[in-house]
Amino acid sequence: MDSKKLAAEKAVEFLKDGMVVGLGTGSTAYWAIQKIGQKVKEGLSIKAIATSRASEELAIELGITMLPFAEIEQIDVTIDGADEVNNEWNLIKGGGGALLREKIVAAASKQLIIIVDESKHVGQLGRFPLPVEIVPFGYEMTIRKLRNLGAETSIRTKENQMFVTDNGNYIVDCQFGTISQAEQLEHTLNLIPGVVDNGLFIGMATNVIVGYANGTVKLL
Ligand code: 5RP
Repeated sequence: MDSKKLAAEKAVEFLKDGMVVGLGTGSTAYWAIQKIGQKVKEGLSIKAIATSRASEELAIELGITMLPFAEIEQIDVTIDGADEVNNEWNLIKGGGGALLREKIVAAASKQLIIIVDESKHVGQLGRFPLPVEIVPFGYEMTIRKLRNLGAETSIRTKENQMFVTDNGNYIVDCQFGTISQAEQLEHTLNLIPGVVDNGLFIGMATNVIVGYANGTVKLL
C-alpha cells in the first residue's frame, strides 16, 4: 500500500464518536479524508472542519458533516500532512499552499496528528523551501525583506499565473538552508509587515505517524 495512505489510515484509528475533527490538506490528508468518509458511512459519528476549500469539497462529497468555526469551541483531533518533520516534531508545512488555515485549525486542536511518508522525516528542517504567505499589496517589498533575512526566494506560480491561496494571498517559497533556530525564525518572519504567516509549525504536533515503503507504519 502507498506509504502516505498507510500513515493516513493509522491516524483515523484515533477518531471516536462525538469528536470534532480537523481535516488537513494535501495528498496524504486526502487518504485520511477518504478513510473518514468510509468510517462515517459505516456509522462513525464525527463532525469536521477543513483546512482548505479542496478538503472541504472532498469531505462534503464523502458525506462528512462540516461545521463552521462559529459552532466550534475546540477541535478534538486534526489529521494533517507535512513537508518535513524533525525529531522534535517541528514541521515545515505549506507545500499545498494551505498553511494559514492549517495553522489556525492546528492551534485550535487538542491533538494534532501528523501523517507523513518516510521521505518527510528529516534530521534538520530546511531542505524543503519554507512557504511564507504574504498579502498582495506591496508584495515586492515584502519579498525584499525576506531576502534581507538571508532567504533565496521564489514566488509560487501555477499554470504561469501567480498562485493565490484560499485567503486571496500569495506564497513565497524561501530557501534558508538548514534551519537551526526554527522558533526564532517563525517569529521573525511573522514580524515583517505583509507576511501573514509561515509554514514553520513549532511545538504543535502531538503525534507523528510515518508510513514506510516496506508496508510498515510507525508512531514516532
Ligand atoms: C499543505 C500542506 C501539506 O500537508 C504538505 O504540503 C504535505 O503534502 P502532501 O501530503 O501532498 O505531501 O502543508 O499546505
